[in-house]
Amino acid sequence: MSYSARLADTALEASVVGSFSRVGYEIRRHVDHWEPFTPRPGATAVVTGATSGIGLATATGLARLGFTVLIVGRDDGRTRRAREMIVAASAHRDVDYVLADMADLASVHAAAAWVTSRVDHLDVLVHNAGAITPTRTLVSPGVDVTVASQLLGPFLLTRELSDTLARGDTGRVVTVSSGGLYTQRFTLGALEDQSGPYDGATQYARVKRAQVVLTREWARRFDPAQVVAHVMHPGWVDTPGLRASLPGFARVMGPWLRTPDQGADTVVWLASAAPARAVSGALWLDRRRRHEHAVPWTRSIDPLADQAALWEWCAARVAPARRGPPSPGSGVARFVSP
Ligand SMILES: NC(=O)c1ccc[n+]([C@@H]2O[C@H](COP(=O)([O-])OP(=O)(O)OC[C@H]3O[C@@H](n4cnc5c(N)ncnc54)[C@H](OP(=O)(O)O)[C@@H]3O)[C@@H](O)[C@H]2O)c1
Repeated sequence: MSYSARLADTALEASVVGSFSRVGYEIRRHVDHWEPFTPRPGATAVVTGATSGIGLATATGLARLGFTVLIVGRDDGRTRRAREMIVAASAHRDVDYVLADMADLASVHAAAAWVTSRVDHLDVLVHNAGAITPTRTLVSPGVDVTVASQLLGPFLLTRELSDTLARGDTGRVVTVSSGGLYTQRFTLGALEDQSGPYDGATQYARVKRAQVVLTREWARRFDPAQVVAHVMHPGWVDTPGLRASLPGFARVMGPWLRTPDQGADTVVWLASAAPARAVSGALWLDRRRRHEHAVPWTRSIDPLADQAALWEWCAARVAPARRGPPSPGSGVARFVSP
């Protein structure tokens, strides 16, 4: 990276607004001379939350590169429509879908089984599904829907698909976090703390921080020759999710928000570019590794102990999903062919 590119990037990071808005995307794209994406015909990707926003743009971007794309959605109509949109926008028909609610571990388990029955190896797994949930919604004792859908569901899907990921040419797991992670210190107990009033944005930011911690642990556990794990944040992106959860922010920032394609750029790059195969466990924004902390008080005393504890905590909570088939009507994954 040239001196001027480094200087521009440092100034952008310090400004936050410049970094997260479309200004950051445009400047970095220009000064870093971003290469076009690498086509990967024959490669296979699973993308969660592909019905709108960044996930839809990611799935479309991967389909354009020749990936077989398997999308995971929770609503039949929306997921079917998304598939049609991806096929139309990419002129690539090899797009299939399965229904699963990422907060419902039985349906995640069934979706993983569908994927392994559908492909003999998996190159890319993108954990994108996510939202800010305004009220505390428990899916099991001590586990709210934010933790279930953005931490436990992805944990289970990764674990169930890890053999399939390891079978191909260096599988890649990419998790879409959020810049909100910089506001939180990782504390395992806070994920299930129900003692005080619920603040959806704070719980979301805690989970987004936990995704970074968990990615480091996946990177430690995987053989990097077989599977690498990345976590990225997309900046501020004009999506239905952002407009619904932060309408005032979306209105004020309107012209400065990134497009969904811009928000998805680093996901598609991590899924397809050669340099992203040689690194594991890192946090990314705009095709570059980023520091995990913006302020000293979010730093952990013992990051390795945190990541090991989080992994064990997730493993203990997803264990029941492995016990036998899901009961009827509990969000069983449906098997859909084009
Ligand atoms: N937009 C931003 O500025 C921004 C910034 C930082 C991070 N992010 C992250 O980017 C990711 C995508 O968000 P977005 O802005 O593109 O929002 P979006 O347009 O609302 O898309 C969210 C996707 O996640 C799916 N989803 C949510 N909960 C789910 C669940 N329990 N099971 C299955 N699917 C579920 C949604 O499916 P339905 O269609 O069924 O609702 C939808 O496909 C999220 O992880 C978000 O945290 C976004």
